[in-house]
Amino acid sequence: MIKVEHLHYSYVIGKKGKQSSVPVLKDVCFEINKGEIVSIIGRSGSGKSTVLNLLSGYIKADSGKLTINSTDVTDLNEKQWAKFRLDHFGFIFQNYELIPGLTAFENVELPLTLKGIDRKTREGKAHEMIQKVGLSEHKGHYPNELSGGQQQRVSIARALITEPMMILADEPTGSLDSETEAEVLSLIKQLNKDQQITFLIITHDQEVANIGNRTLKIHDGMMKQEGGVYFEAN
Ligand SMILES: Nc1ncnc2c1ncn2[C@@H]1O[C@H](COP(=O)(O)OP(=O)(O)O)[C@@H](O)[C@H]1O
Ligand SMILES: [Mg+2]
Repeated sequence: MIKVEHLHYSYVIGKKGKQSSVPVLKDVCFEINKGEIVSIIGRSGSGKSTVLNLLSGYIKADSGKLTINSTDVTDLNEKQWAKFRLDHFGFIFQNYELIPGLTAFENVELPLTLKGIDRKTREGKAHEMIQKVGLSEHKGHYPNELSGGQQQRVSIARALITEPMMILADEPTGSLDSETEAEVLSLIKQLNKDQQITFLIITHDQEVANIGNRTLKIHDGMMKQEGGVYFEAN
């Protein structure tokens, strides 16, 4: 489903004339298969978010090859990436990234609005997704009227509504207490088990990483697969 080959990435920092290059990823290779939950673990600053930004086309690798669904997407331009992202990925972020002026329901509906889907279909789907994450009673609430865990459920519903091939989650429980974290992780596992939704989960936390079928560890710009399978495949 996703194949990453020999990815290199450096950030260029400093003012013009005094610029220097900071290598973050050196020869990163990995694959993600349909129906998996794959975790990427690494210390803060190890390059995890950089990997996610490369996979979703927000930044471009210095070298290497990225193949998604048998399509070579290495050289897509910005406009092509915007469409590709909307068609293929759902996103979950540490800080939920909900739109404050929209209700839970409207936040969930938004990706379909961006895709130009008609209102009736949009609303039907949004109802279904809100129900799936157990928030039917809160659909009219604005983000600031919801708990952190509820906001993350809204963002999961929003990620699911386009039926993406994969959900990319960057520290999805990083702002939650441990009880709420467990609830969100169990929702992710349930979606994976019941609907074979593929997840890439980025975290610095071993316990979170453990929900994956396998874990890739990023260290010194390199990526390695850790140990064996933590949990039995679903
Ligand atoms: N826009 C940027 N410009 C320069 N350096 C950056 C930028 N974004 C991240 N970095 C650096 O790249 C490294 C990896 O960052 P990041 O991928 O965000 O790490 P992680 O998500 O694992 O915490 C860090 O050392 C960070 O300081
Ligand atoms: Mg990060």
